[in-house]
Amino acid sequence: MKGIVLAGGSGTRLYPTTGVINKHLLPVYNKPMIYYPLSVLMLMDIREIAIVVNPKDEGQFKALLGNGSTLGISIDYIHQPEPKGLADGLARAEEFADGDKVCLILGDNVFFGHGLPEKLREARKWIEEGGGGCVFGYFVNDPSRFGVIEFDRQGRVVSIEEKPQKPKSNCAAVGLYIYDERVFKFAKEVKPSQRGEMEITSVNEAYLKEGSLRVNLLGRGFAWFDAGTHDSFLEAGEFVATIEKKTGLMIGCIEEIAFNKGWISRQELIKLAQPLKKTHYGDYLLKIAGEEA
Ligand code: TTP
Repeated sequence: MKGIVLAGGSGTRLYPTTGVINKHLLPVYNKPMIYYPLSVLMLMDIREIAIVVNPKDEGQFKALLGNGSTLGISIDYIHQPEPKGLADGLARAEEFADGDKVCLILGDNVFFGHGLPEKLREARKWIEEGGGGCVFGYFVNDPSRFGVIEFDRQGRVVSIEEKPQKPKSNCAAVGLYIYDERVFKFAKEVKPSQRGEMEITSVNEAYLKEGSLRVNLLGRGFAWFDAGTHDSFLEAGEFVATIEKKTGLMIGCIEEIAFNKGWISRQELIKLAQPLKKTHYGDYLLKIAGEEA
């Protein structure tokens, strides 16, 4: 399975900052926003990853993450010149996927919760064993901002609607999807919606129509943020700060995950910590490596 992070878009809801700086490089507390979705893919044991970017921002992403080799992964960059929608960003990764199944994650989504990696790996397995598409639901107060999932009395999905004015439930589809290899066919068939975007909801509807869409609920034990508005950006940062200060453990630390998975050696981890010396982040990496900071 390959991983795709969508980090194009225009980030208008975070203007004026994102008029000049790419949203996904802004710090959510102590690390760039894109570390969080990247870490989710890594926790799912996905090592071949593509980041979909606006070509004008590619240099900054490359300066931060390179080709992924320092983390024991590979990172490709795919161009999406205009923010035509999530399904458009996904469709551009067809060549990269090369007939493989994929996990798609939005570059501004932050996830946290005990047992999340196991839950995601289990969903991955379901797709690898013949499932079609998998989305994740999360109960929110303001569903009209999201894709909304409606269930019947048996808990089966009846509909998914994009940003409905009258939401049929409070269950939002979060920015994380796992699909079989047919997803590119569905994504290329998507027509622009009323707001002019190629919606990922249309892709999910295609799977729903043929009865091969599964919804996994992320219950009360999970936190999910779409950090794309000023308020949610602040909330995500405060949440990460609170948990990290309480536990002394980091959320979304890609170097730590690479080391724990055995993808990089202790020496390589220490090398990654060097330029970050005298920062909390650098000290944390050294601690993980068993070195005194
Ligand atoms: P959105 O938050 O829907 O869009 P945006 O990032 O352009 O922000 P705004 O609504 O404030 O203008 O996008 C969700 C994620 O998907 C985000 O991380 C950017 C990414 N994205 C793409 O990669 N390509 C696209 O065409 C769009 C619309 C979004």
